[in-house]
Amino acid sequence: MQKLEVFGAKKLKGQVKISGSKNASLPILAATLLSNKKVYLKNLPKVKDIETMINLLQSLGSKIKFNKKNLIINNFKQNKNYASYKLVKTMRAGILVLGPLLAKFGNAKVSLPGGCAIGSRPVDIHLKALSKLGVSYKIIQGYVHASAPKGLIGSKIRFSKISVGATENLIIAASLAKGITVLSNCAIEPEIKDLTNFLNKIGCNIKWIAKRKIKIFGVSEVNEANYTVMFDRIEAGTYLIAAALTVGNLKIQNVIPKIIQNEINTLKKIGTKISVKKNEIHIIGNKKIKNLNIKTAPYPGFPTDLQAQIMVLLCKANKNSIIKEDIFENRFMHVAELNRMGAKISINSNKALVEGNTSFEAAELMATDLRASVSLILAALTAKGKSVINRIYHLDRGYENIEKKLKKIGAKIRRVN
Ligand code: EPZ
Repeated sequence: MQKLEVFGAKKLKGQVKISGSKNASLPILAATLLSNKKVYLKNLPKVKDIETMINLLQSLGSKIKFNKKNLIINNFKQNKNYASYKLVKTMRAGILVLGPLLAKFGNAKVSLPGGCAIGSRPVDIHLKALSKLGVSYKIIQGYVHASAPKGLIGSKIRFSKISVGATENLIIAASLAKGITVLSNCAIEPEIKDLTNFLNKIGCNIKWIAKRKIKIFGVSEVNEANYTVMFDRIEAGTYLIAAALTVGNLKIQNVIPKIIQNEINTLKKIGTKISVKKNEIHIIGNKKIKNLNIKTAPYPGFPTDLQAQIMVLLCKANKNSIIKEDIFENRFMHVAELNRMGAKISINSNKALVEGNTSFEAAELMATDLRASVSLILAALTAKGKSVINRIYHLDRGYENIEKKLKKIGAKIRRVN
């Protein structure tokens, strides 16, 4: 099992290039199943979850190869509609193949994703909405057996709760449905806009008609196309927080600043100096960090995927802060590890009280989930001495070349077996 050794305390200085978005790439990869022609994708991040999704598509019969910067997906002979637990259990976004498989074949057998460290990850909203498109389904031994004998029929659907995955699954499924589908109370994360841009590029007909409302005119087939996936806004937010934490001076490149305006405003409130250019954010840390109460919320609110990272920063604030996790039921797994490093964080249901003016001591640590693991690296960067982080396979699911990128901006970090 690989570990990371991090030697603090270090200031981060220089430039870092942000990779493509994992959470935009996954639904777009699933959506390529709608096509039986070639699709060329650029800027996919080299992370484990993307590899898993590619393996899942290949298990469904997609022919996939890399050349230069393009991932080429050829679904001409893609003919399977069974997504196994073996692949879906390690990456919950595997459920996103359900919509396209139903749209293409009219029936599918897809493993339920199962839970993970941050929550039970149910898919009831996906399934309820799909049934409004004419899908009937049964759950048998952990699999969704779904079918739409008359094909998918367009309909008006309002999501009972904002869900990124359910919105993505339904947009993809409705793209080939007969007639018009209107989806209301949609999630509007930038990754979903990237998905609708991709779908329109391959010939679908999708229009955003209000803030959380989308109208989809079903088409009978889609074309060949090439598409470049957007930047990873959570990776960008992670490096911004890392610069603030280490009182560094960092230029974050290959980004569209306005997409993470909320995070930029939050970090300005906390006391950092930030200036932006077209595709770059320049952040200069400040020794004095002001406390701030944070509540995670669907976009454009503060992202739950940056909650663990901002918590580390608020441990260094001048006063106490409260962080409310309103999206997932168990996303404080990083707190116990941070407290072992000297933080003083107490949890009361979905609220964490973060004491300010604390400093981190180096320690041996255990990663529990993707974003918790990166928060441990952030804390270790500010702690004098050597910290060791175990189970870094969590990290490799969503951060491309993280040691290389951190080393290039001044961190002392190495991977050991
Ligand atoms: C996506 O997960 C992201 N994953 C998550 O990022 C992100 O944290 C989350 O959206 C929220 O922004 C990908 O895009 C691959 P949801 P998703 O459906 O789609 C409940 C990361 O670190 N819910 O918006 O699973 C659910 O349990 C990952 O990159 C239901 O109850 O999130 C959660 O409490 C972690 N029933 C809330 O809604 C459902 O059918 C939001 O979930 C679906 C969801």
